[in-house]
Amino acid sequence: MKVLLLENIHPVAVQQLEGRGYEVERRSGALSELELIESLADVQLLGIRSNTHVSERVLEAVPHLEAIGCFCIGTNQVDLKAAAARGIGVFNAPYSNTRSVVELVIGEIVALARRLPEKTQRMHDGVWDKSARGSHEVRGRTLGIVGYGNIGTQLSNVAEALGMRVVFYDTADRPAHGNARRMASLEELLAVADVVSLHVDGRPGNAGLFGPEQFAAMKPRSMFVNASRGMVVDDVSLRDHLLSGHIAGAALDVFPVEPKAQGDPFESVLRGLDNVILTPHVGGSTQEAQEEIGWFVSGKLAGFALEGSTALSVNLPEVVTPPLESGHRLGYLHHNVPGVLARFNALFAEHEDNVTGQHLATSGELGYVVTDASEPLPADALAELRSWDDCLWARTW
Ligand SMILES: NC(=O)c1ccc[n+]([C@@H]2O[C@H](COP(=O)([O-])OP(=O)(O)OC[C@H]3O[C@@H](n4cnc5c(N)ncnc54)[C@H](O)[C@@H]3O)[C@@H](O)[C@H]2O)c1
Repeated sequence: MKVLLLENIHPVAVQQLEGRGYEVERRSGALSELELIESLADVQLLGIRSNTHVSERVLEAVPHLEAIGCFCIGTNQVDLKAAAARGIGVFNAPYSNTRSVVELVIGEIVALARRLPEKTQRMHDGVWDKSARGSHEVRGRTLGIVGYGNIGTQLSNVAEALGMRVVFYDTADRPAHGNARRMASLEELLAVADVVSLHVDGRPGNAGLFGPEQFAAMKPRSMFVNASRGMVVDDVSLRDHLLSGHIAGAALDVFPVEPKAQGDPFESVLRGLDNVILTPHVGGSTQEAQEEIGWFVSGKLAGFALEGSTALSVNLPEVVTPPLESGHRLGYLHHNVPGVLARFNALFAEHEDNVTGQHLATSGELGYVVTDASEPLPADALAELRSWDDCLWARTW
């Protein structure tokens, strides 16, 4: 049982996987397609970040590969469809950096309210300008959170701990945390918020969510933060409202067009403006988030390989299995066609095997069933199962 971890994945992942019985090799860089094929010769689990591309050619060449962990948020670097077609589970860490984003946003709100970008710049320019003009406490001010999901709700809690009032708007029906108040519309939120912070997801309908109309509807001298997606905001309109003074400050961590590589030039109409914080999409980039990602994704890989759980898999039907404490488990990944489950359960009945638990799900072209039973299915029944046309794989634990 071997694992290959590339791209400097946090050592906590090694610790967890070794603790679950795997032999782990950890390397610092990414690998090319050919290097990857060679290196995966006897590997069951692969861990990568964003610079290793796992193409269909790689997947075709390594039929024994069981799962891929993307120790990051995105999964575009993996051919997910090709992986699913071969029954290879792909996992990522969509929520491990939530707290890091929240802390950055809180820091930015305080910094903007005290006009720190301007003040520190003047000090570096050799100007001592001690004044309280335009500086405020955040206590008692109203934070308007647009998008009350993982990050929005955690921000809500931390902002309240600082003494801020919180209002939020979400298109989905989200319960309020603490004393936060739900607003019936974005307009209602914009009318009362001293700071507006965007935490919506990247669905296509959110492109251009925030433009001239929304900035104009914000309170005079209010502040604006976006650490969600760059395409959500019309930066030209934000610039106009900053220059006119209607918006008193802004912090942006994401941009409609972001440089691809480290050191590439950054172009934005927001460069060079007073009281504007620009950061290179680092909301979730902390050592703590890396550690959390390492722990989370290695746990998902082990849960899949050792217990059959596809919890939070991005490409297989999601079956969350309880730990197997006694008895025998069989996982069956199959094409989603009618009649599979009836045939599958008939096998257990024929062998008078008592099913003690069953978890199943289908998603698109795939179906997955995990069955716990008192006895293991006999070898010939297992061989029969594996010979069915709809079978992608059958594994036992
Ligand atoms: N800056 C960074 O480094 C960084 C790091 C992590 C996440 N993010 C981004 O932060 C955003 C939020 O992440 P999350 O994990 O909280 O996502 P999430 O999916 O948990 O929450 C998003 C929420 O926005 C709501 N929403 C979607 N469109 C809306 C709209 N038009 N109006 C109001 N509500 C709307 C959804 O219903 C959902 O509740 C995502 O876009 C994510 O990509 C950025």
